[in-house]
Amino acid sequence: MSKFRVGVIGAGSIAQSHLTAYSENPDVELIAVADINLERAQSVAEKYGAHRAYADPQELLADPEIDGVSICTWNNSHATWAIAAIEAGKHVLVEKPIARTLEEAEEIQRIVEASDRVVQVGFVRRHSANCQVLKSFIDADELGEIYYAKASCIRRVGNPGGWFADKEIAGGGPLLDIGIHVLDLCWYLMGSPKVVSVSGNTYDRLGNRANVTTMPRYTVADYDPTKNTVEDLANAVIRFENGASLLLDCSYSLHATRDSIDVSVYGEKGGAELEPALHIATEMHDSVVNIEPQIASRTFEFGPGFANEIQNFVDAGLGRAESVAPAWHGVEIVRILEGIYESARTGREVTMS
Ligand SMILES: NC(=O)c1ccc[n+]([C@@H]2O[C@H](COP(=O)([O-])OP(=O)(O)OC[C@H]3O[C@@H](n4cnc5c(N)ncnc54)[C@H](O)[C@@H]3O)[C@@H](O)[C@H]2O)c1
Repeated sequence: MSKFRVGVIGAGSIAQSHLTAYSENPDVELIAVADINLERAQSVAEKYGAHRAYADPQELLADPEIDGVSICTWNNSHATWAIAAIEAGKHVLVEKPIARTLEEAEEIQRIVEASDRVVQVGFVRRHSANCQVLKSFIDADELGEIYYAKASCIRRVGNPGGWFADKEIAGGGPLLDIGIHVLDLCWYLMGSPKVVSVSGNTYDRLGNRANVTTMPRYTVADYDPTKNTVEDLANAVIRFENGASLLLDCSYSLHATRDSIDVSVYGEKGGAELEPALHIATEMHDSVVNIEPQIASRTFEFGPGFANEIQNFVDAGLGRAESVAPAWHGVEIVRILEGIYESARTGREVTMS
């Protein structure tokens, strides 16, 4: 059977996770890498055995040997490259967020609807074994109707700086960068319900805590402690058409006593913690029972998560499976995030039509 021939646009940190998974996938042939930083594109292409490197993603998209692309650039070019790729006839895996704004996201969706291409969003945590197992329990109605969820991702000193700290490029701070992952997990497990209202708050009281030198933190290559235009903290209450609600909070900077990630969903027949590790709670014969599925890892793991995500994209591109994270899911998540920013800005609940 013919291979799925791939190009990767953007050759920075996360591209390495995509490239590792592609290079280890027997169904894939890695054709090209593009980055505005040509030297980076060349060295990454060489490292992973891609045949060609380009400085201009348009040249990669014009390459007739490529069937599908991963878009791993900064958030401000996700919409541009996703639309250009679809128009060039490529299948697309675009990193989260699908776009910086709802306007950009909806523009992508219009193009998606007029095409037959697979367009998948990089919600990698959906592809982790702990999430897949929990989803199978939910799909079998073991938890009943889910009416409440909690999503939290707290970093104490975790502003990566560079473009992540530049609202113009990133579109927002921890909400668009890390809050999006935990929000998406809950929304996905809740069955992708329609959002009806959002009430949110954002704060920028602590800044990027560049003064703290005693804690290790990830920083991007172009880190500059004097530049930071994103929020430190965001929280929200999100209501859905089916009456379910979701509590969210996330931060880059907060006086918390530890970093944490928590994702929980609660239904009429059972509940579950997905993060920090999968545990399921239910009631049997008038007793409260905790269930621990015996899987290789009950927490999210980067390597297997990306391998599964890439496999799903490849299978969808080859017509063997449906994508687990279609473009419209990315659009709905951006709708919620934009609602939170709007609510925080106006100090009022935002109602969605
Ligand atoms: N799924 C995840 O868990 C996860 C984790 C980290 C980052 N991300 C997402 O991946 C994307 C990239 O993040 P990163 O940490 O790899 O950033 P990065 O800065 O390390 O890499 C981005 C690369 O894109 C290149 N680039 C930027 N704009 C470009 C353009 N218009 N055309 C071509 N190349 C361009 C840059 O030169 C850089 O090499 C972001 O959207 C981020 O939200 C996802």
